[in-house]
Amino acid sequence: MGDTGSLRLVPHCPRLLIALVLLGLSFTVSVAGAFNYADALTKSLLYFEAQRSGRLPHNQRVTWRDHSGLTDGLEQGVDLVGGYYDAGDHVKFGLPMAFTVTMLSWSVIEYSGQIDSTGEMEHALEAIKWGTDYFMKAHTSPTVLWAEVGDGDTDHYCWQRPEDMTTSRRAYKVDENNPGSDLAGETAAAMAAASIVFRRRNPHYSSLLLHHAQQLFEFGDKYRGEYDRSVEEVKSYYGSVSGYKDELLWAALWLHRATDGEYYLSYAINKAHCFGGVGWAMTEFSWDVKYAGIQVMASQLLMNEKHGVHGHVLQMYRSKAEHYICSCLNLNNGSNVDRTPGGLLYVRQWNNMQYVSSAAFLLMVYSDQVLAGSDEEIRCPGGSVGRAEVTAFVKSQADYILGSNPMNMSYLVGFGPSYPRRVHHRGASIVSYREYRGFIGCTQGYDNWYARQEPNPNVVVGALVGGPDCQDNFFDQRGNYMQTEACTYNTAPLVGVFARLMQLEGQSGELEDGIENFPLRASYRK
Ligand SMILES: *[C@@H]1O[C@H](CO)[C@@H](O)[C@H](O)[C@H]1NC(C)=O
Ligand SMILES: *[C@@H]1O[C@H](CO)[C@@H](O)[C@H](O)[C@H]1NC(C)=O
Repeated sequence: MGDTGSLRLVPHCPRLLIALVLLGLSFTVSVAGAFNYADALTKSLLYFEAQRSGRLPHNQRVTWRDHSGLTDGLEQGVDLVGGYYDAGDHVKFGLPMAFTVTMLSWSVIEYSGQIDSTGEMEHALEAIKWGTDYFMKAHTSPTVLWAEVGDGDTDHYCWQRPEDMTTSRRAYKVDENNPGSDLAGETAAAMAAASIVFRRRNPHYSSLLLHHAQQLFEFGDKYRGEYDRSVEEVKSYYGSVSGYKDELLWAALWLHRATDGEYYLSYAINKAHCFGGVGWAMTEFSWDVKYAGIQVMASQLLMNEKHGVHGHVLQMYRSKAEHYICSCLNLNNGSNVDRTPGGLLYVRQWNNMQYVSSAAFLLMVYSDQVLAGSDEEIRCPGGSVGRAEVTAFVKSQADYILGSNPMNMSYLVGFGPSYPRRVHHRGASIVSYREYRGFIGCTQGYDNWYARQEPNPNVVVGALVGGPDCQDNFFDQRGNYMQTEACTYNTAPLVGVFARLMQLEGQSGELEDGIENFPLRASYRK
């Protein structure tokens, strides 16, 4: 995530700003035909290879990267080699890493047929496993989970390639005396979701994952507390603003989905009120705030008659899920998500795209799984919407990301003719280690590489950057980390979204039986 401590945002040039605003006003969408979603999907999965920490395998496709972080955990006597860098820096933050893996797994669970049809399934599984292998290492005993390697403050002091890293690699953990229910809950959710993905593909691995997930849930539930109280180093980077109740509900629902165990469902039902599951009406879904995701998952349970006994509470979850969807569609009375003049959901200035990709995914799943097989509509205060409308809206957001926007720029790096060239990413902005093996020191990187005006020497293909401001303006400057930094959890939900859009646009030949292929209506309400 961004470098709040050591860097300042590059000041915007006022004249450029005015010119861009004028262009923005006269902008009309004029994209003929659909984007190549299969290409976008392929690129999204490639991105996770650029973010790999640890010893890279022989089939590593992002060849400007090399091994890094090979002594992670050594100081604490634990093997924490592997996992993902969250963004443009080299801290391994457990909470967003776990959320990334949950969303990748959810994408594969809902859209496996579509991903299979492009031949990308192996890459999707590798992306998940790179995370879950690390979580297994980090979960060293039933009540110990390593939460972070490195710390934001010292990491951000340097601008180095991961291969040259000289910053502290101290590791931090949560345990019985220093609880972290949110971290344990999200990691349990990620491993439970991944256990579903691997159930038939690798049964042994799947049951190992499930075992970890169950232990982590028990740990998180029994020793309650927010992880950022136990690991204060995380506070200014990935502090848990929403607390841990959402992660415990989220983990319970994922464990129920993985095991069909009544215990987990009862947990989500019995704690629906006191944990805010049916209380919070949300307008965002993120690595921190899971309520909208919980509400969509609970709505999916309603589709199965055997859950009728819990129908009353599940309906309450569902009505909150619809509040979220209506807010994205601008159909609530009052609490709606803002939009830019170009039509992009706009939640906040810093890394706004994370909220766009996660919303696109939730709306897609709701439309496919909850509205499926019926002419059912969501009755929003501002009017009713059906599947076609929800899906068209998802497409509008995906298309904005891919270039249908006032800047004519793809915010998915490496896609189409125009995309950000100065992504705030240490590894990408410095000459590849494979090309130049000389050591590049801590501040040398700032002096010789960070401050350059030239494009990055390496393209982080598939990264979804923070994206434009509330007026659709985007400044492709390395120092503008609010807009040009990318995070793993931005891209993860797009895997499912691109796979589904590809199918809806008839871009894939081999569709699974029974998945309805209805045409997208191009209009949606602004
Ligand atoms: C919308 O909210 C306003 C203010 O709270 C209220 O007066 C109005 O009746 C609401 N409209 C509908 C259709 O619910
Ligand atoms: C985007 O493309 C449209 C259509 O080709 C063009 O009219 C417009 O000037 C372009 N905008 C920018 C910022 O390049």
